[in-house]
Amino acid sequence: MRQRYYFSTLDEIVEGQFTIRELGNRSVGATLLHGKPIVVLNFCPHAGAPICSGKITPKQILEASHELTLDPEHPVLRCPWHGWEFSLENGRTVFESRLRLAYLEFEINESSIFVWV
Ligand code: FES
Repeated sequence: MRQRYYFSTLDEIVEGQFTIRELGNRSVGATLLHGKPIVVLNFCPHAGAPICSGKITPKQILEASHELTLDPEHPVLRCPWHGWEFSLENGRTVFESRLRLAYLEFEINESSIFVWV
């Protein structure tokens, strides 16, 4: 059965990196995406890495000219174990896969964030 846990104050969550907390027996990460919080399980759906310790980078796009360009409007989270990249916008891998990040429900109350785990 899920429980509601205090995670942090809102100003402890920043864009471009995850803040990680242990809530109950689960590891959970939160970051800002375009100024809004997102909260995910700190567990890579591929093989269980602590994915929130991976880097958040701009999505790479292979142009028709075979040059790589960076798209900072669509950041991805790169897993520290095998380098799979997951969109922070929908949790899906950047290649076709059914695996996706597990987003968690949260609520904001007086500048604090609470997460349901
Ligand atoms: S454990 Fe994350 S890509 Fe393999």
